[in-house]
Order: sequence, then structure tokens, then C-alpha cells
Amino acid sequence: MTRQENRNAIRIHLKKLEEKKGRPLTAACITFGCQMNARDSEKLRGMLSEAGFQITEEEDADLVLYNTCTVRENANLKVYGRLGYMHSLKKKDPDKIIGLCGCMMQEPSVIETLRREYPFVNMIFGTHNLHRLPFLLEKVLECPEEQFISVLPDTDEIVEDLPKIRKYPFKSGVNIMFGCNNFCSYCIVPYVRGREKSRKPEDILAEIRQLAQDGVKEIMLLGQNVNSYGKTLDMPVTFAALLEQVVKTDGIERIRFMTSHPKDLSDELIRVMADNPKICRHLHLPLQSGSTAVLDKMNRRYTKEQYLELVSRIRAAIPDISLTTDIIVGFPGETEADFQETLDVVRRVRYDSAFTFIYSKRTGTPAASMDDQVPEDVVHDRFDRLLSLVQQIGREETSRFEGQIRTVLVENVNPQDPGLVSGRLESNTVVHFPGNASLIGSIIPVRLAECRGFYYMGDVV
Ligand code: SAH
Ligand code: SF4
Ligand code: F3S
Repeated sequence: MTRQENRNAIRIHLKKLEEKKGRPLTAACITFGCQMNARDSEKLRGMLSEAGFQITEEEDADLVLYNTCTVRENANLKVYGRLGYMHSLKKKDPDKIIGLCGCMMQEPSVIETLRREYPFVNMIFGTHNLHRLPFLLEKVLECPEEQFISVLPDTDEIVEDLPKIRKYPFKSGVNIMFGCNNFCSYCIVPYVRGREKSRKPEDILAEIRQLAQDGVKEIMLLGQNVNSYGKTLDMPVTFAALLEQVVKTDGIERIRFMTSHPKDLSDELIRVMADNPKICRHLHLPLQSGSTAVLDKMNRRYTKEQYLELVSRIRAAIPDISLTTDIIVGFPGETEADFQETLDVVRRVRYDSAFTFIYSKRTGTPAASMDDQVPEDVVHDRFDRLLSLVQQIGREETSRFEGQIRTVLVENVNPQDPGLVSGRLESNTVVHFPGNASLIGSIIPVRLAECRGFYYMGDVV
């Protein structure tokens, strides 16, 4: 079936349903995962809108699509919780269409469970074929009683030019690569996102130019390890070289990227960041553990000393940079001494903020079959100690701009106080200050009058 035939077929089905309901049909796509998952959701919404649905955020929509994550057990459990609720809604409205996609669907055991216990889910697809949504949808509309499953193990293909509905008019994610080849021993991402693939620089730059024309001021370049961007291209390009092209795009005033693997962060990248003020003075540099022994078992391929040395080089070149990180507590075999090494790195690096995670066993990863899983009470105790240190240092670091004038990208009117607007500094710290909706999307200087923990109260200058 061609795209056009598919579109026509969907139109006919939707028209019938609309007549039955006496109103336009709505669709919601709910994101459970990371920025890349969120960007995929923007494409899914784009395709649903093109198919003829009105896009909403509400789960009482006629079509609900859950874009799932499976990086930790919790993310996984949340989805089953939502499905229970959806089942009750579907009993009241049998026309409701329920879809599941994203990383969790790449796990065969999940598909088995869904097949067996959740037959009311209409369509299931994975991370490698999200562009096929309209074709699956057409089948569902044709046979709403059946469950359609389409999951590919991996793909070499990068599908360009999918329609998108962006969450924010003034900022956007931009995929620069897909998949991951690092196989950190705790992590399921390489299994559910497939092998690393980079988009061509010309495709990335064309997308960014278009975003700038649409009024976007800030972009975030997305990849599981942006520092290895370009290695798999026919004509290899480094991430730093790509950034040098991106900064030339008129209209784009702020550039961020995520995530940087410490093992691949080059001096060339540090130089390009230092030389280009459009690149935000913020680097998310996941540590995972401060213990070289644990890092080795995690297959991170750097030592504690190499990480600290990298941080020194970054700070020397870009003194006002904000560093943030991810840390896992309770990796198999982690001892109190290992954990002390993590605390030591946190004290030395002084992160603006850190995401702290309790190690979650992911079936199929090498760490899942390692001995010495750390007892739960020990993990919780370490987690609490880490969190309190991270928060204490985070508050101190966040307040270092107090009294200064810094630029803020205004994002929204404060929902608690309509006299205030809220936005973000380059460091990603939130600032609230007096203003109105006309400021949304502009980048303006604000005096950071008072730091209140992890955010600022400011005044326009
Ligand atoms: N590609 C990114 C991370 C993506 S996953 C990177 O390498 O930094 C985001 C974070 O989830 C990771 O940094 C890690 O801290 C955490 N994470 C991944 N797998 C996990 C697991 N099995 N248990 C707990 N946290 C995990
Ligand atoms: Fe997971 Fe490591 Fe790849 Fe990040 S770099 S996605 S933590 S395997
Ligand atoms: Fe989750 Fe997939 Fe992202 S597993 S963290 S949504 S790449």
C-alpha cells in the first residue's frame, strides 16, 4: 500500500468514527522515557495529526499511544499501571484505540506478556519502525478486535522528514544519532535501541535551519553518546566539527547536547565549546561511579583519575561551566569503599545537580548475572547519603550566580503565580521573575536577585 492509499484508507475509517461520535477524534501520545523518547513522541504526534486526529495531552483521548522506556524496572512497571487504567476506560468506550511503542517493546518477554495478558491493546511497535505507525493504524481501524504487533530487531535505516508536532515553539531536540554501541554492563539501551547510527551532517543542519526559521532559539542535539557522533558515516565527521557547523545557523542562539560519554570527550570539543558562546556553558557528564573497580565492571572504559583529569581540563578551558551527572548506587559488588570513592568525586567535581539512581537489574545485560547483588537496605542507605551530599553541593553551586545578570530563555507563565514568568539559564537552572506571556520564547537579561535552593527569583534589568 502506498502512503497516499494509506492516508485515504485512514480518512474513510476516521470519518465513520467521527460521524458515530458526532465530534472530531483526539489522540494522545504519552512519553515515559528520556529526551530521545520525547523527540520520538513529537514525530508520533506529527503522524497522528497528519492522519486526522486532534492532538491532546489527555488520556481520555480516542487514541492513546504510550511511548515506553525500560531503562529501569520502575519505568517498566509504570506502563503496566497505566494499562490497567486504560482497560477500565476501554470497557466504557470500546472504540478507544490503545497503542504501545518505544524501548520496552523491543523486549521479547514484554511482547509475550502483552499478547497473553493485555489483548485489549490494539497496536504494538518498536523503536526501529515508528515511521510505520500510519500503516499499523490503518490495520487497527480495519480490525479493531485484533492485536497488531510489529517489532524489528534492529535497522540500518534512518527515516528523515517525518512530520513533527513540537512541544515548545522556542526550543527543540534534534536527533544527531540513534542507538548505542557502548554496552555498559548494567544498561539495556543498546539492546532496545540497536547499533549506533549517525545522521548525515547535511540532514541535521537542514533540520536546524528549518527550526530556526520556525522561531526556535535553543536546540538540544540528542544521542546516547554524542561524542562518538559521525564515526559510522561514509565520510566521518567529529562531533566537534558538527558543532562548528551548527553554531553558524542564524537564529539559533543556544545549543545544548546530551549525552557526553566521558571516555570519548575530546580536547577538540572542549576548544569548540570554549570558542563559541552560543554553546551553553553546561555539560552533562555521567559519572555512574567514582570507583575505578566498579567503573571497570560497568564497562565504562575510564578510571576515576581519568574522569577527574577530564573535569580539570574542562574547567580550565571553560571556568564558568556547570557540570551535571548521573550516578548509579548499588551496582553488583559495590563496597562501602567503592561508594566512598563516588562521594569523593562528587565532593571534588561539585556538580550543579545530579540524577541519582538505584541500580536496577535489567534481564539480558551482563550485570544482571553478576554475583554480589548489594542488599536493598545497604543500597537505600547509600542512596540517601549520596542524595544529601549531591543536594548540599548542588545548592551551594547553584547559588554562585547570585547578584549577577545572566540571560534567561523564558519558557512559560508561572502556573502558581500569573504575575511571574519562568525560564532557564544556560546552566539549565530555573529562574522566576515578574513578567507576562509576551516574553515567552525570548532570551533576556535578568538579575539573579535571590537563590532559593535549586532555583532563582530574579528581576528584569
Ligand atoms: N547514554 C547515556 C545514558 C542513558 S540512560 C550515558 O551513557 O550517559 C540514563 C541514565 O540511566 C544512565 O546514565 C544511568 O545512570 C542510568 N541507568 C541506566 N541503566 C541503569 C540501570 N540498569 N539501573 C539504574 N540506572 C541505570
Ligand atoms: Fe547505556 Fe552506556 Fe549506551 Fe549510555 S553509553 S546508553 S549508559 S550503554
Ligand atoms: Fe528509556 Fe529508551 Fe531512553 S530505555 S532512557 S526511553 S533510550
